[in-house]
Amino acid sequence: MLFGKPPSVLGIDIGTTSIKVVELQKERGGVKLRNYGEFFSPERELLPVKTSFISFFEEEIADFLKKILKEAKIETKNAHFSLPLFSSFFTIINLPLMKPDEIPEAVKLQAHQYIPVPVEEVVLDWSIIEEEEALFENKIQVLLVAVPKDVINKYVRIARLLGLSLKTLEVESFSEARALVKEDKRPTLIIDIGGRTTNIIIVDKGFIRLCHNLDFSGFALTRTLSKRLGISLKRAAEFQKAKGLKKEIGGLVRSALLPAIDKMIFGVERAMNTYLAQHPKRKIERIILSGGTANMPGLCDYISSKFEIKTEIADPFKEIEFPSVLEEVIKEIGPSFSVAVGLALAEFEKKK
Ligand SMILES: Nc1ncnc2c1ncn2[C@@H]1O[C@H](COP(=O)(O)OP(=O)(O)OP(=O)(O)O)[C@@H](O)[C@H]1O
Ligand SMILES: [Mg+2]
Repeated sequence: MLFGKPPSVLGIDIGTTSIKVVELQKERGGVKLRNYGEFFSPERELLPVKTSFISFFEEEIADFLKKILKEAKIETKNAHFSLPLFSSFFTIINLPLMKPDEIPEAVKLQAHQYIPVPVEEVVLDWSIIEEEEALFENKIQVLLVAVPKDVINKYVRIARLLGLSLKTLEVESFSEARALVKEDKRPTLIIDIGGRTTNIIIVDKGFIRLCHNLDFSGFALTRTLSKRLGISLKRAAEFQKAKGLKKEIGGLVRSALLPAIDKMIFGVERAMNTYLAQHPKRKIERIILSGGTANMPGLCDYISSKFEIKTEIADPFKEIEFPSVLEEVIKEIGPSFSVAVGLALAEFEKKK
């Protein structure tokens, strides 16, 4: 329609503890936030099980999503969905120099060596990492992603149940890197601490180099706190959010949480060192802390001091226009909406 509103787009992130939806619109060169919504249940957050929303039946997830879309009065049908990193396989493969039209076949032939399930059962996606060093060594570096077909089919069914037009399905780490790193070429480490998992991503010279899933989460911290202090999960979750790593007299909460956090940091360091060993001239210059747990008091400073690297809390809405009355809320929800925002931004990137 000539004089109608510019089309808007949805980013839908079905996380382990909550479902987030963002609606963005491109207007006069900028990107505007039209709407956002979240389905979150405090009881679910504290369920002592390791299930994700995505393990629910499609009908149930579609119902939760319907609620969000209705409450936020979202009408657009144009949707991008994220896939959890833990359901996909990620690897970097090296190919000898070859003509561009030979690469797809070579990737397919090599894939079975890296993927622990039959290639027929997955959907493969790949992209070339353009790096001079690799070319000097006469090789082409390819980032390979494989997602099981049954996972993909689940999302296709959810979109169909909602009458949404499924534009893309993307592994969440790609969305997150798009929202948080943008054009920045510095070696950057993203740590996303969610409800049931932690994802780490290294982006360097604008390309994803490493994605890794750690067995750590916001809920793991709540459980640790509850056990160590002998308090209920509900109370522990309240302490985690209100006190976290704040230095207080007695500092019971901080000292109960630190061993688990140090263990997570050790896991991150191990992954980071794997990348740095392969790229000895590079150095991580920036850490971005994302996911709901990024807001835990004192965590950002603690990570920064442990790594001795500048660390910031994720702000995926940084370059997005929104009414100034929302400033506080947006700052608070920002870290847990990184994936949803990055997904919606994919639409505008395609049209560049
Ligand atoms: N202010 C806060 N302080 C500490 N923890 C917090 C705070 N706010 C949220 N959390 C924790 O963040 C977690 C939820 O994060 P998030 O919304 O990113 O999860 P998710 O995307 O559903 O999960 P995942 O990424 O694992 O799929 C919960 O464990 C919650 O306890
Ligand atoms: Mg998440």
